Amino acid sequence: MNSEQLIALDQQHVWHPYASMDNPPPAYPVVSAEGVRLRLADGRELIDGMASWWCAIHGYNNPYLNQAMQAQMSDMSHVMFGGITHEPAVRLAQRLADMAPAGLEKVFFSDSGSVAVEVAIKMALQYWHARGQAEKNRMLTVRNGYHGDTFGAMAVCDPVNGMHSLFTSVLPQHYFCAAPPLGFDRPLEDTDLNELEQQLKDHHQHIAGLILEPIVQGAGGMRIYSPAWLKTAAELCKQYDVLLIADEIATGFGRAGALFACNYADVQPDIMCLGKAITGGTMSFAATLTTSHIATTISRGEASCFMHGPTFMGNPLACAVANASLDLLESNNWQKQVKDLEQGLHKHLGPAVSADYVEDVRVLGAIGVVQVKQAVDLGRIQKMLVDEGVWVRPFGKLVYVMPPYVMSPEDLQTLCEGMLRALKRYFNA
Ligand SMILES: Cc1ncc(COP(=O)(O)O)c(C=O)c1O
Repeated sequence: MNSEQLIALDQQHVWHPYASMDNPPPAYPVVSAEGVRLRLADGRELIDGMASWWCAIHGYNNPYLNQAMQAQMSDMSHVMFGGITHEPAVRLAQRLADMAPAGLEKVFFSDSGSVAVEVAIKMALQYWHARGQAEKNRMLTVRNGYHGDTFGAMAVCDPVNGMHSLFTSVLPQHYFCAAPPLGFDRPLEDTDLNELEQQLKDHHQHIAGLILEPIVQGAGGMRIYSPAWLKTAAELCKQYDVLLIADEIATGFGRAGALFACNYADVQPDIMCLGKAITGGTMSFAATLTTSHIATTISRGEASCFMHGPTFMGNPLACAVANASLDLLESNNWQKQVKDLEQGLHKHLGPAVSADYVEDVRVLGAIGVVQVKQAVDLGRIQKMLVDEGVWVRPFGKLVYVMPPYVMSPEDLQTLCEGMLRALKRYFNA
């Protein structure tokens, strides 16, 4: 199939994420990916600033990850997880429990980030049910959050960004409060958690858990906030007897500069969701971790078990490659990789703040965000970015990069400069 045929058939039959099927814009056909580069069907190579929605931390076509999958495939690609176990899953669960914030010892595997969030919410609800407090069946969350697109996850996303208005009749109703103020180093002010505390005061009898993305709110606004805010929120949860659910699907495995963003605030959540980079960007997989106390309480409740069990739960191929990804995380020295990227992002994106079309530049770990004053037209700017030889996928006013950790300083410079040139052209500056 040549590129023209492929694009035409794609437009005819394939629905892309958050895309219109009414005269859809052509997608860029990719034929292969290697290291930090995507190769297009027309032969062009793009430096990838997205790590495939933040997953491909070790780069594409990584021989170590490939080898792990090939070896596992020759044993078994999949077996059911009900009543059966296997070494890749057991090893992975043990490693995740060892590396996670203290107390998170029990691991429930699932197949995507959204499902890991569904699982977390169900754990919280079943926990309170088992304790005879079934009326604690709502979540509390902050605005500007993003937790996934399935109904349960979507219900705790920002109601405006998530267009809750389209789905109100079936969405569970939860409690919302103001998003944390921007700024990793911002000193905490007395009023910063007022709304959060008020909601807890007024409704804690009905709140099972506070769910949030620690330190970095991703797809709901690429907002970076302070460890002091997170620490205080965690203390309030304890005070009002509400579980803390940390959604580390985007921030986990070093992305924000700490292995888990909760570590910045020395916070031990009751439940934690992991996904995205867990398999180094090779396969869809996720995990929800919780404490022995929560797991035991649920297991002694009415159902005598946790009520969830996906068909592809604990998929051996995904577990094997997740173990290999953890090996690489250690052997590649992720701390240095992410620190180097952070310095490069400050250096190359920082000066953009002086452009009159730029509102703000934010960097933390391997996350670099340029917020512009006017929302960009995706189709138009995407072409300009591709013409610059970079793959960056902005949304709204947010033009950002979250590159693979293996990106060299030279490629990072080319990526940032290409992105800023495209922005300049876009705004005719
Ligand atoms: C913080 C967070 N939670 C959950 C999700 C949903 O993950 P998935 O797209 O794998 O369902 C995402 C995806 O972007 C995310 O960033």
